[in-house]
Amino acid sequence: MPATHLRCRVCETHYPLDPIGVCTRCFGPLDPVYDRDEQRRIVSRESIEAGPRSIWRYADLLPVAAPAEQRLAPGCTPLVRAPRLADALGVGELWLKLDTANPTHSFKDRVVAVACAKALEHGSTTLACSSTGNLANAVAARAAAEGLEAVILCPADLEPEKLIASAVYGPRIYAIEGSYDDCSRLTVELSFEVDWAFVNVQLRSYYAEGSKTLAFEVAEQLGWELPDVVVAPIASGSMFTKLHQGFGEFLDLGLVEGEQPRLIGAQAEGCSPVARAWADGAKVKPVRPSTIARSLAIGSPADGALAAATASSIHITPEDEIVDNIVLLAETTGVFGETAPGVTLGALRAAVRAGEIGEDDRVVLLVTGDGLKTPGLVADRLDPIVIEPDAELILETLGGVR
Ligand SMILES: Cc1ncc(COP(=O)(O)O)c(C=O)c1O
Ligand SMILES: [Zn+2]
Repeated sequence: MPATHLRCRVCETHYPLDPIGVCTRCFGPLDPVYDRDEQRRIVSRESIEAGPRSIWRYADLLPVAAPAEQRLAPGCTPLVRAPRLADALGVGELWLKLDTANPTHSFKDRVVAVACAKALEHGSTTLACSSTGNLANAVAARAAAEGLEAVILCPADLEPEKLIASAVYGPRIYAIEGSYDDCSRLTVELSFEVDWAFVNVQLRSYYAEGSKTLAFEVAEQLGWELPDVVVAPIASGSMFTKLHQGFGEFLDLGLVEGEQPRLIGAQAEGCSPVARAWADGAKVKPVRPSTIARSLAIGSPADGALAAATASSIHITPEDEIVDNIVLLAETTGVFGETAPGVTLGALRAAVRAGEIGEDDRVVLLVTGDGLKTPGLVADRLDPIVIEPDAELILETLGGVR
């Protein structure tokens, strides 16, 4: 395996490839380091194409070995053209990356699969996390697939569909009477007391790397070419920063040519600490989230500063536009996204208005989560014509138009 060690992003201290959450010297985040020469020697377009149809085709670019038996493997989700939405927005070439096609319908299956591979290597028996909803679904399902226990801490007032889509797999759920940031703090405290493998605490370095596979897939699916622009949501900022890293690694390894894509970030008005830091050129100031985009409601984003530094721009989607965007996406593409894609589409629209996207740009919009988990927001669209089972009555409703 080409991964060699973990390195502190701040003081550069090295650590072995163990479940270590942060640098014990300076509390900085740790990133896996790879032997690039070894990767250049063993990784090629052909070797990737010959791999399994999942994230594990990129195993040599990840900090864990591919599991011997790949259960419920995420990845290789569709990348589809969206010509009607492109026309509606005035974008030349628009693609949707449908991460709703993962086993629990969000991109979180990618990060959990990588973190869990590390947890299994270390003989953990319980997988755990703090979550805004989607991560909980992914952890609970992964634990069920691997025969592990699961423990989840999430805000008590999450969308019920998200809680149910975790509960069905049989985890222990703590519905915390507080925010996601409270849940996150609790997991850090508990990680010193119990031997649960918290995917986003001690396993965070491994977890985060899983998001690189989104960038890898986009480039591979575009025929080993890079897009010009990728529009992506930001909560903790982890996935956003790893997109940049993923494209960078493909360039570095000579798997693609050209320029780093411009990364446009998306946050909801009611939780936009990274967008505000980017706009002000200032530090990220934690906020108390108040947004309908619950999956993105992280007020104190761990990778916020790096996400702001990575972004070409970050746009704030007004709260009252999020549902309109969910509907616009559905009506023009046939894709039902949750609130996160509603926010992301808002950023794409804002970027077009601001002239940041040219006629010839090839744009990828990430659809990271599924609308079936947040159906309440569009429930008022349901207004059927209730009628007796009689064709004549149906024809009458057409008022003579056939
Ligand atoms: C659907 C969806 N998209 C995007 C994100 C943002 O991920 P990150 O915390 O890596 O910024 C989340 C996080 O929960 C999510 O659930
Ligand atoms: Zn350090």
